[in-house]
Amino acid sequence: MKILITGKTGQLGHDLYELLKDKEEVIAVGREEFDITDINSTQKFIKEYLPDIIVHCAAYTKVDDCEKNKDLAYEVNAIGTGNIASICSDIGAKMVYISTDYVFDGTKNTPYLEFDTPNPLNVYGKSKLAGEEIVKEILDKHYIVRTSWLYGINGNNFVKTMLRLSKERSIIKVVNDQHGIPTFTRDLAEGLYFLIKTDAYGTYHITNSGETTWYEFAKKIFEISKINVMVEPITTEEYNAPALRPKYSVLDNYILKLRFNYEMRNWEEGLKTYLELLI
Ligand SMILES: NC(=O)c1ccc[n+]([C@@H]2O[C@H](COP(=O)([O-])OP(=O)(O)OC[C@H]3O[C@@H](n4cnc5c(N)ncnc54)[C@H](OP(=O)(O)O)[C@@H]3O)[C@@H](O)[C@H]2O)c1
Repeated sequence: MKILITGKTGQLGHDLYELLKDKEEVIAVGREEFDITDINSTQKFIKEYLPDIIVHCAAYTKVDDCEKNKDLAYEVNAIGTGNIASICSDIGAKMVYISTDYVFDGTKNTPYLEFDTPNPLNVYGKSKLAGEEIVKEILDKHYIVRTSWLYGINGNNFVKTMLRLSKERSIIKVVNDQHGIPTFTRDLAEGLYFLIKTDAYGTYHITNSGETTWYEFAKKIFEISKINVMVEPITTEEYNAPALRPKYSVLDNYILKLRFNYEMRNWEEGLKTYLELLI
């Protein structure tokens, strides 16, 4: 299998490449190879490499910034994704599009299935959902994989932010009324590798299992790392971020379990492995 991964400088792109580099013929690309919003350079590069599959991890992921940079969010997450999908269609390649729990509005209080209806609350979620729709429209051989609350070896994430804040502050305030599932990008990469070896196209949820809040997640980070710092629970309203976020965005990996009996490990186990690697 000849694989091309976009978003090599990002969390998932980096960890997926690390997993696949000794197993498959694979290349990871970033902005230096091509900007996904530029159809000509994107096309030129991909048509020269001729992959069997593209795992599209590149995205504009700054959720709060997307509110003020709406055009850029749609340009990268929808139009850029469409560029990749149409090139896949031209060369007969399959495509994986990584999407998000933020396509849901959080009004459910049981885990979201792949069959539930999306209704994003913020520009990021809307632009990622537009990406899903474009992929479905252009390409039959696609996997849409929704995931949540990522942390990986490369780049910035909630875990690294908490570890940094613990050195700067004696009390850290963390939102306790948003429920979701932290997911280690290496575990997600394993799930993706499993999935792309099947020809079972369609929409999937792939996250670690269990559920928590950002506050409980922060406490678990400090407990595992044996860091003594006060963590104070606050509400979403008190935190007052620019983008609305779903109060409940727990995803059920329903189709993965139903079709293949494939189970992802618990988020706490993933976090322990990650912290061992970081320290
Ligand atoms: N992070 C999360 O918590 C989360 C949750 C759910 C779903 N997701 C989805 O999972 C995927 C991976 O997320 P991540 O956290 O690994 O992302 P990330 O760390 O923010 O990395 C994003 C990558 O996209 C690249 N990129 C952005 N705009 C580009 C453009 N116009 N052309 C080419 N490359 C571009 C970035 O390159 P530069 O470094 O050059 O900017 C970077 O390599 C994304 O699709 C995201 O929407 C993420």
